[in-house]
Amino acid sequence: MTKIATIVGARPQFVKAAAVSRAIAEHNRMPGGVPRIVEKIVHTGQHFDANMSDVFFQELRLPKPDVFLGINSVSHGAMTGRMLEQIERVLMDDRPDWVLIYGDTNSTLAGALVASKLHIPIAHVEAGLRSYNRRMPEEINRVVADHLSDKLFCPTEGSVDNLAREGITKGVSLVGDVMLDAFLFYRTMQSQEGAHSSSALLGRLGIEPKGYCLATVHREENTDDQTTLASILEALAEISASRKPVLFPMHPRTRKKLDASGMARLSGKGLQMIDPVGYLDMIALESNAFAVITDSGGVQKEAFFSQVPCITLRKETEWVETVQSGWNVLAGTEKDRIIGAFDAITAARAQGPPPLYGNGKAARNIIGELVSNA
Ligand code: UD1
Ligand code: UDP
Repeated sequence: MTKIATIVGARPQFVKAAAVSRAIAEHNRMPGGVPRIVEKIVHTGQHFDANMSDVFFQELRLPKPDVFLGINSVSHGAMTGRMLEQIERVLMDDRPDWVLIYGDTNSTLAGALVASKLHIPIAHVEAGLRSYNRRMPEEINRVVADHLSDKLFCPTEGSVDNLAREGITKGVSLVGDVMLDAFLFYRTMQSQEGAHSSSALLGRLGIEPKGYCLATVHREENTDDQTTLASILEALAEISASRKPVLFPMHPRTRKKLDASGMARLSGKGLQMIDPVGYLDMIALESNAFAVITDSGGVQKEAFFSQVPCITLRKETEWVETVQSGWNVLAGTEKDRIIGAFDAITAARAQGPPPLYGNGKAARNIIGELVSNA
């Protein structure tokens, strides 16, 4: 038996963990005395609204968390500190063979720190990503997590190279991107499930296939500076008023900032601000969009998987291949540059995006390696 403790807490981690949990279930169904995997899911509680957490567990059929820590809405230090204390308690009792951490959130960092001090091997899914911008909390989290990990599961060749430049070569595996696994699997489910029909969804929202832009914004550097957030909002308002309607499922962090600043008044005239949507609706909205405008890591890639042009509201990205292949533009946050990037989108692209993120079997590769190295 191999015991895995999975540490998750934030929306993108539920999507990634769903792909790996499916691979675990698949492994456990294999006939012929294959040692079973027992997964314990620890949810730190970092994201906690029903539409930021529960909906993902339900829709993605992710096993319910075994432990829910309920830690959220405090500063970076307080959040990480409380997580350290609580995760330590869980792992000391449980002593798993692996601690599995995902991406670059505070939940990732806390899982890595606790496991390393308890000498429990750490496997980091989505290792080696770098923005080379240390002002991002995520960059600090991912650098520390990588340097503490025993297995580093990289989604891209570039991420393997990034680790090599920091002297990390042991335990590194290029497995592909679990977000592609999730996207391919759940897109099929979405298209088969009547409750998530794209046409009904677009009809309810009053938008047409390829007739709208899909926007998401949640990065600390974009939401916490009022001038930056205003510049982004004004660009979205102008695009929606004079070019294409913009649908904006809003992260609670951004909603709080908008409500506090009075900028929510920019909604209307084609700019539709709605609550966050579930994953199945999100991938339908991405696939049907004319363009995606985002500062999200996951959404940049899902635009790429959907063959939809993306405008990224940042100066750098960890997902450099999406830019190099011409499907993503780093527009930053100045209003005129965002509108300019929108106007530069040509409707037809000669070629679909190259297959850069694996073949949809990353999670299977990860589980294979964890079982043979336990
Ligand atoms: C976190 C991650 C970020 C990731 C993002 C995914 C860190 C440092 N940041 O950012 O890397 O891209 O998740 O979405 O870990 N909130 C709610 N309800 C919720 C969730 C959050 O109201 O369900 C509020 C919190 O109270 C807080 C704010 O949103 O005021 C920010 O939440 P937090 O988890 O600290 O950071 P995110 O911006 O979500
Ligand atoms: N997502 C979603 N509903 C939304 C916005 C995002 O299901 O309203 C999904 C999105 O499809 C992707 C993941 O959440 O799979 C990305 O999470 P987020 O943008 O919060 O974080 P990041 O990827 O930037 O860390």
